[in-house]
Amino acid sequence: MLEGKRIFLTGAAGGVGTALVTVCRASGAEVVGLDRDAQALAALEGCAGAVVDLTDRGAVAETLPRLIDRHGSPDIVISNAGWTRAEVLADTGPAEWDDELDLNLTSAYTLTRAVLPSLRTHGGAFVYVASINALAHYGNPAYAAAKSGLLALMRAVATEEAAHGIRANAVCPGSIRTAAWDHRIAAQPDILERVRRLYPMGRLVEPREVAQAVAFLASDLASGITGAVLPVDAGISAGNLPFIREIVG
Ligand SMILES: NC(=O)c1ccc[n+]([C@@H]2O[C@H](COP(=O)([O-])OP(=O)(O)OC[C@H]3O[C@@H](n4cnc5c(N)ncnc54)[C@H](O)[C@@H]3O)[C@@H](O)[C@H]2O)c1
Repeated sequence: MLEGKRIFLTGAAGGVGTALVTVCRASGAEVVGLDRDAQALAALEGCAGAVVDLTDRGAVAETLPRLIDRHGSPDIVISNAGWTRAEVLADTGPAEWDDELDLNLTSAYTLTRAVLPSLRTHGGAFVYVASINALAHYGNPAYAAAKSGLLALMRAVATEEAAHGIRANAVCPGSIRTAAWDHRIAAQPDILERVRRLYPMGRLVEPREVAQAVAFLASDLASGITGAVLPVDAGISAGNLPFIREIVG
């Protein structure tokens, strides 16, 4: 599905990132990972990597041309790094707001601008990993604002860059058991068991399932698709199952 494609992938060392490396390599792609976690990045098999803090604009501006020189221009760029801690508005001070906007939105903008000139020379595809938090309010207001902004960024690229043969799409995952949940599980060991029941499919999605949806949107199988938002969420954005259960008793 991705034979001969070169992919630049952010957050490559995380839960979804690792699944993306596996799925994309198995589909025939070469993957260049970007992450701030040097140790986890080095442990990724068959994936070239660059250690970079994506919130450091200068470092991103310096790193991307170097990666393009070394590996060649990417055909596909997957903006996957993301993070949240501030659960509700009452916990979201100015520092939390800025931190979550910086990583989840501004770093994707910086990355996009850094690779666009090179993609314009041959076309390609962006996939942005957003969240169900961009579709309705599930808590984490700063993260939700950033992920909603990420959909706007994706639509700007899809609309303005189509003339250069560039597509852009987004996936909106529901809850996924990755390291992103470790702090919540430490505070409430049964949290995933309770959360899973809110999903129509009665379970969370797996990192591999998110990766497969991203790989599809990045691939030529999706050659006619741009500007799309694809939930990968075990059905939670389709309707409110707990509400229906209350109605039927
Ligand atoms: N886990 C979930 O429940 C869930 C749900 C919806 C959406 N998402 C989204 O999926 C994506 C992947 O999340 P995940 O669950 O794999 O998280 P994760 O915490 O397992 O991985 C995130 C990766 O991003 C890297 N990273 C964080 N900040 C960085 C920075 N400043 N510079 C460079 N790298 C940085 C981390 O080192 C880590 O390897 C994120 O965009 C997240 O918002 C996750």
